[in-house]
Amino acid sequence: MALNAFRITEEPYYHSIANEIALFEAAYSARMPMMLKGPTGSGKTRFVEHMAWRLGRPLVTVACHEDMTASDLVGRFLLDAGGTVWHDGPLTQAVRHGGICYLDEIVEARQDTTVVIHPLTDSRRVLPLEKRGELVTAHPDFQLVISYNPGYQSVLKDLKESTKQRFAAIEFGHPSFDAETRIVCTEAEVPEEVAARLVRIAASSRNLKGHGLREGASTRMLIHAARLVARGVALATACDIALVLPITDDADLRDAVRAAIAVAAA
Ligand SMILES: Nc1ncnc2c1ncn2[C@@H]1O[C@H](COP(=O)(O)OP(=O)(O)OP(=O)(O)O)[C@@H](O)[C@H]1O
Ligand SMILES: [Mg+2]
Repeated sequence: MALNAFRITEEPYYHSIANEIALFEAAYSARMPMMLKGPTGSGKTRFVEHMAWRLGRPLVTVACHEDMTASDLVGRFLLDAGGTVWHDGPLTQAVRHGGICYLDEIVEARQDTTVVIHPLTDSRRVLPLEKRGELVTAHPDFQLVISYNPGYQSVLKDLKESTKQRFAAIEFGHPSFDAETRIVCTEAEVPEEVAARLVRIAASSRNLKGHGLREGASTRMLIHAARLVARGVALATACDIALVLPITDDADLRDAVRAAIAVAAA
């Protein structure tokens, strides 16, 4: 069957933070376009994978970038032995066959590319394939989900107001101490006390946000540090290579993060 390759057969581990699973289920049942907002490494991608599995829908993910064209999303004619043949792009595949289409980092795409989703995300639920002269009506199971890291973009790279206002949003942030400890524990397979220590360390790096750091350490970074600890790397070294070095090139700031870590690790 179409989109079989996009089915998620095993449950992606997702630790629920608040009522986001129920909210997403309600939004999906109304086929409402959804925006997942939050800093890098906060669980947006994992959440959409989990929800696609839970809802039993195939998940078609597109990593958006500056050079992406509307054709990369909707499809194009390609030349083969028999002449030119139309190939559906990933968005069109999801629209036709009833998948969840996840446009990751949507703000990276140019605004003239983004507007192709407009007729899909209002009451029309159609996708015009201009080059082919076809108007595809969305499959009843189709849903569009986008991710958005607020705050990183320049004004130039923000979404158009008319795009933003087509979506309902779920916000992701840093999980509570207990939730994050559980996530790190499970994902990195480390004892709870190691995970808890790393989560405390992360909290101290997050306090430096705005004082030179654009973002504190993400849950993703903590999992990296924990995986190194699980393989015998000393905690201080693991924190240095997984939490400090990647986050800033500024020597003074690195020292400040290291100092904060040393206090939290003591
Ligand atoms: N609530 C959660 N439950 C389970 N794992 C989580 C959760 N939050 C974060 N993680 C872990 O953190 C990692 C990073 O999360 P994810 O890739 O979903 O972040 P993201 O928000 O999509 O980041 P980006 O904006 O950079 O794409 C995941 O691979 C997973 O290991
Ligand atoms: Mg992601």
